[in-house]
Amino acid sequence: MPAFTANQWERQAEDHEANWRAWTAHLKVLDVLEIGSYEGRSALLWLAICPDALVFCVDPFTGTAHGEKYEAIFDENTKRERAEGRICKVRARYQDVGGEREFNVVYIDGDHTSAAVTHDAEKAWPQLVSGGVLIFDDYEWQPDAGPDQTPRAAVDAFIQAHARELVVLEPVNGDTWQKAIRKL
Ligand SMILES: C[S@@+](CC[C@H](N)C(=O)[O-])C[C@H]1O[C@@H](n2cnc3c(N)ncnc32)[C@H](O)[C@@H]1O
Repeated sequence: MPAFTANQWERQAEDHEANWRAWTAHLKVLDVLEIGSYEGRSALLWLAICPDALVFCVDPFTGTAHGEKYEAIFDENTKRERAEGRICKVRARYQDVGGEREFNVVYIDGDHTSAAVTHDAEKAWPQLVSGGVLIFDDYEWQPDAGPDQTPRAAVDAFIQAHARELVVLEPVNGDTWQKAIRKL
């Protein structure tokens, strides 16, 4: 059984699952680029939604949470899935990895500053196939923080800049914590 230390994300993962299923229902298999994996919870949720999914987890795994190194927790939680080749761990910052491979899902949950979210979205956009889905986590995170410290302004600006290339996807359960778009 996977063990996670960040319980607040467990609740959010449950909230997000219905939306993830609806937003990706048209995709036969999920080929996922996940930017920011932490302890592996969201990567495992992709596999729960699609057992044949392939999830590339890009994360520098440099930090600690609750006094523990979360890389060790990620490794333990995803041991079986990595051995089976369904999770591919990429121990790096996303800005430092190559951007050649294509995906039909991109999940952005890494560095939450506005500049980083802009970088990650612009870099990942050409990696997303037509019909693919891009999901930004934490769209509503820290509404009182400065706009440069949170994803929201970057997400809105990205959607505006690429408006002709995408459709915004609505949540099916009223959960607006994440913002999703489908590439035309
Ligand atoms: C909110 S956590 C991810 C939570 C995870 N997606 C989940 O739901 O279980 C943010 C993660 O982003 C990672 N991160 C920070 N900067 C990054 C970067 N430049 N590229 C990729 N990941 C990054 C951190 O190490 C951290 O593990």
